[in-house]
Amino acid sequence: MRTLTFRNGDEMPALGLGTWKSAPGDVGGAVRAALEIGYRHIDCAAIYGNEKEVGEALAGAMRDGVVSRGDLWITSKLWCTHHREEDVRPAIEATLSDLGLDHLDLYLVHWPVALVKEPNSPLEPGDLVSLDEIPLRETWGGMEALVDAGLAKHIGVSNDSVPKLEMHLDARIVPEMDQVEMHPYLQQPDLVAFAKEHAIHVTAYSPLGSPDRPDVMRGDDDPVLLDDATIGAIAGDLGATPAQVLLAWGLQRGTSVIPKSTNPERLAQNFAAASLELPADAMSAIDALDRARRYCDGEFWCLEGSAYTVEELWDE
Ligand code: A2P
Repeated sequence: MRTLTFRNGDEMPALGLGTWKSAPGDVGGAVRAALEIGYRHIDCAAIYGNEKEVGEALAGAMRDGVVSRGDLWITSKLWCTHHREEDVRPAIEATLSDLGLDHLDLYLVHWPVALVKEPNSPLEPGDLVSLDEIPLRETWGGMEALVDAGLAKHIGVSNDSVPKLEMHLDARIVPEMDQVEMHPYLQQPDLVAFAKEHAIHVTAYSPLGSPDRPDVMRGDDDPVLLDDATIGAIAGDLGATPAQVLLAWGLQRGTSVIPKSTNPERLAQNFAAASLELPADAMSAIDALDRARRYCDGEFWCLEGSAYTVEELWDE
């Protein structure tokens, strides 16, 4: 298994299990099956609403001797309702309590977007708080304090553009991770190059193109990544599946990938992608598929009259 090495030498398994969209009732079984298959990196978030069940599965697997805490890499994320500096620690404490852990390996600021305390997603413009009011650097101060307190070994961000990463480059603890949507239709070569230059790792979410994304992220003419003809042809040549080709491409680029599945066969299939080597001509054929196409375009944040626009969100 490829690993990403952090600044203190800690190593994160590059292929992890995504738990976004894994329904309560399904996620515990998926985590247990994944751990038995060999996954050691689980990607979580408070907003997924399933951390308690993930925690029960982790506890069960540790109790049964399937894994020990030291073998695991657990990531979670700070939700947008907790961006005030004093709200960051209570948020990770709730996540740790749900997951049944005393520290996280990695904690990320989920979005560069701030919300009032309730609701969890914006229903009207007033639910969104501008970044002038709660600057990202204020939130980051709360994140740095978590490392000092031993609650998170590493900290990072998610959904950050290059200009937003730049805002953190003179921080006491520079982010070690940016988790963003990334797949052959959204390759973001500039972001990957910038991150590499500054020793920031990149995790690709929705590496399969997120076919089960919610309706709010769906358009009529959305291309289906798993049905891409080039990906299908490469898969055919290598005796692999399209999903395995997508994951192997992400791993070979040096990023982490966190495919979500709750199906044991697909969990095993995805894990096996870590052993698939794509030849150089397949890598370049896939590189040519980029169309800068987001499935998760963040439009749901950008209510008219709020402080957020899609252009400013991605700085595009
Ligand atoms: P399921 O959970 O039933 O396996 P992403 O990680 O890009 O968000 O994609 C997750 C979606 O892709 C889910 O709908 C998941 O369904 C599906 N999926 C996961 N692994 C595979 C695979 N190997 N082949 C096809 N679809 C997959």
